[in-house]
Amino acid sequence: HTARFTLNPAFTIGEVNPRLFGSFVEHLGRCVYTGIFEPDHPTADEAGLRQDVLDLVKELGVTAIRYPGGNFVSGYKWEDSVGPVEDRPRRLDLAWRSTETNRFGLSEYIAFLKKIGPQAEPMMALNLGTRGVAEALELQEYANHPAGTALSDLRAAHGDKDPFGINLWCLGNEMDGPWQTGHKTAEEYGRAAAETARAMRQIDPGVELVACGSSSQSMPTFAAWEATVLEETYDLVDYISLHAYYQPEDGDLDSFLASAVDMESFIENVVATADHIGAKLKSKKKINLSFDEWNVWYMSEWHEIENSGTRDWAEAPRLLEDNYSVTDAVVFGSLLIALLRHADRVTVACLAQLVNVIAPIMTEPGGKAWRQTTFFPFAQAARHGRGQVLDVRVDSPTYETKKYGETDLLHATAVRAEDGTVTVFAVNRGRTDALPLEVALTGLDLTRVVEHSALADADPDARNTLDDPERVAPHPVDGTALQDGTLSTVLEPLSWNVIRLA
Ligand code: AHR
Repeated sequence: HTARFTLNPAFTIGEVNPRLFGSFVEHLGRCVYTGIFEPDHPTADEAGLRQDVLDLVKELGVTAIRYPGGNFVSGYKWEDSVGPVEDRPRRLDLAWRSTETNRFGLSEYIAFLKKIGPQAEPMMALNLGTRGVAEALELQEYANHPAGTALSDLRAAHGDKDPFGINLWCLGNEMDGPWQTGHKTAEEYGRAAAETARAMRQIDPGVELVACGSSSQSMPTFAAWEATVLEETYDLVDYISLHAYYQPEDGDLDSFLASAVDMESFIENVVATADHIGAKLKSKKKINLSFDEWNVWYMSEWHEIENSGTRDWAEAPRLLEDNYSVTDAVVFGSLLIALLRHADRVTVACLAQLVNVIAPIMTEPGGKAWRQTTFFPFAQAARHGRGQVLDVRVDSPTYETKKYGETDLLHATAVRAEDGTVTVFAVNRGRTDALPLEVALTGLDLTRVVEHSALADADPDARNTLDDPERVAPHPVDGTALQDGTLSTVLEPLSWNVIRLA
C-alpha cells in the first residue's frame, strides 16, 4: 500500500540552523595526519593541507568543525600544539594509544577552517578530563584576546596576530563514559562544567557553551546525568550534547534500518529532561541540543582490536576506517532526517568524523581521496536542507523490527527554502519492496519536480573503495510527477531520496 503525508507551509517545525551540518576532526588515527594534513602529498599547499581533501570537504558542505576530540581532548595540552613546529613535544595519546607529534595544532586548525571558507566555524573542545578552569581560561585568552597580555602576545609571536574568534566551546567530552580519561560522576562534572563556564564568561559573556550529556541513550546514567548536570549549569550553558553511533547487531538489518527511531527518542527524551529542569528552576531559558557526534560506526570491530592488546604507540595508525555500504548510507540518511525533524531544538550537530576515521571522505597516503557512500546524503542535505522544516506526519505501511517493534517503512522530512521551493528527503526502509509515495501539497505554490535523486543499488552491500572509488553514487529517478497539488513517486527498496520541487 501507499505511504502518504501532507505538506502545508503553515505547519512548521523550525528554521534549520546551518550548524546542523557540522563535522568533527579529532586527533585520532589518520583524520588529521595523511587525512586533511600531509605536507608531502602532491596536492599539498604551503600549509601542508591536501587540496584534494579540501575540495571534497567544500563539496560536502560542512559548517562547524569540532576539534581536537573526542576522547583525545581529555589528555590534550593545547600549549603543546602551538608555536614553532620543531619545538613541539611528542606526547602519549592515552585515548587511542598513539603518539601525538603535535605537528598539526591550533593555528593549523584555524588555517584549515579559513581555507574551507566562511561557512566553516570553529567548535573547540576543552580538556575537563585531566585539566580544569585555569587551562580553559588560558586557552581562551590565547585564542580570543586581541593583544596586550602574555598569552595573546604569545599568539601574535607565533604568527597569528588576529584572534581566532572561537565562540562555540565544548566543556569536555563524554565525561559520563568510564573510558574517558578523568571520567567523573554527574555531580563532579556538573560542578566542573559550571565553574569553567562561569569563569569563561568573565572573559567573554557571549561565548556559547556546550555541557556534556550522555554518550548514548543506553548509558546506565542516561537522563539522570543530564538532569544533574543541568541543575548545576542551567544558567551558564547554552547546549547539552548527545552522541550516538549505530551498527547492525547480530546481523539484524531490519532494526539497523530503523536506527533513527532510537535517535529521535533520544532527542525527545533529552528535550523533556532539559525542559523539566528549566521548569523546576522556573527559568524562561531553553537549553538547545548539540548532537555533536553521530554516525554509523562498526564499533564492535573496533572493540575487538582495542581488546586484542596488539596496539602500540604508533603515529597516525589506521584506526576506525570503516568502509560504508549502500545500506549504511540509507541508515545515515535516515539519521539526517531525524536531525532535521528536530531542527527546532537540535541547533548544532557534528558528523563524526570528517576524514578517514568513520568518515565520508577517505584518503590514501600519497595517493587519492574519494567519497564514501555516506558522503552523498550529507552533501545533499547540507545543500538543500536549508530553510523551514515542515511538519511531516507520515501515514506509512509498517514492518516488524526486533528492537523497535512495528516501524514505519517511510521516514521523511521536508524543508522549504526562502524562495518557496521545497525539498523532500525520504528513506524507504524496506529491503525487498518498492514503496509508492503520495504527498499532498497544500498552500504551496509548486508546479514541477526539479529533481528526484536516489541512492540505492541492486547490491545493497556495494561500497566505494580505493580500487573502485566511484562504484556508488546517487542516480536520477524517472517518473516522479507533480499534478494537481499531489506529488506521486515510487521509492526503490532500501533507498535514500531527495526530491526537489519548485
Ligand atoms: O568519534 C570517535 C569517538 O567516539 C570519540 O573520540 C569519542 O568522543 C566517542 O566515543
